[in-house]
Amino acid sequence: MSKIYGFNFYHFKCLSSTNDKAKEIAAQGKGNTIIVSEKQTKGRGRFGRKWNSDIGGVYMTIVLKGHDLDKVSYLTFAASISVAKSIIGMCSLDAEVKWPNDVIINNKKVCGILAEIMSNKENFALVGIGVNVNNSKFPAELKDKATSLKIQAGKTFDLQALTKRIAKEFSLIYRDYANKNYEKIIDLWKKYSHTLGKKVIAHTINGDFIGNAVGIDNECRLILRLGNGKIKKITEADIFIV
Ligand code: BTN
Repeated sequence: MSKIYGFNFYHFKCLSSTNDKAKEIAAQGKGNTIIVSEKQTKGRGRFGRKWNSDIGGVYMTIVLKGHDLDKVSYLTFAASISVAKSIIGMCSLDAEVKWPNDVIINNKKVCGILAEIMSNKENFALVGIGVNVNNSKFPAELKDKATSLKIQAGKTFDLQALTKRIAKEFSLIYRDYANKNYEKIIDLWKKYSHTLGKKVIAHTINGDFIGNAVGIDNECRLILRLGNGKIKKITEADIFIV
């Protein structure tokens, strides 16, 4: 274990999922911790999807203690902004955040965030971050959608340095979260946003909605202006630019 930017860092060669290990840490009542693994055998994404977790990527989960469970979406935003800023700063690539939980480069996904919550005596937020860094092979079904920093930049990157940079950027934005400065996080997210101002289709469990992405509300929902002029707030969806 080492201590970096106020977080206890635990490094593993292989885990089922850093979010699983994070749950064990939270069950022990510990917060302020970052779990990192070189690979995962059961990396998972939103909607129970598999997250490709071969060696070469960054797989990390930030364990945070004592939280308003209804503000966890802001932590997803904080994590995606941290990754985008780190990629821009370290790799000189045009990373952008895509609602709700992705970082993309040239319209392809390079990072996904999976924030989960856990409650025992206190509330915990487990913010899982997966970045495709030096990976170059993806399953056939992801070939057109996923990318990596190596594919985009034509060179490899130091995984540890990127992990630390993400932790540093996150610790800075987390101050705003801790101070309930939620508007600042939204403003920052907007600055790096790929989604706003675009016409999108939102695939939700209640059907598809097509509209212009015109804003983010104070619950981190995506605000769409539909073709009939009505406003639709999207809580959970996959978004495609049309
Ligand atoms: C998504 O895009 O659906 C979210 C993907 C999140 C993947 C990361 S990798 C580290 C952490 N551990 C997991 O099992 N998932 C998250």
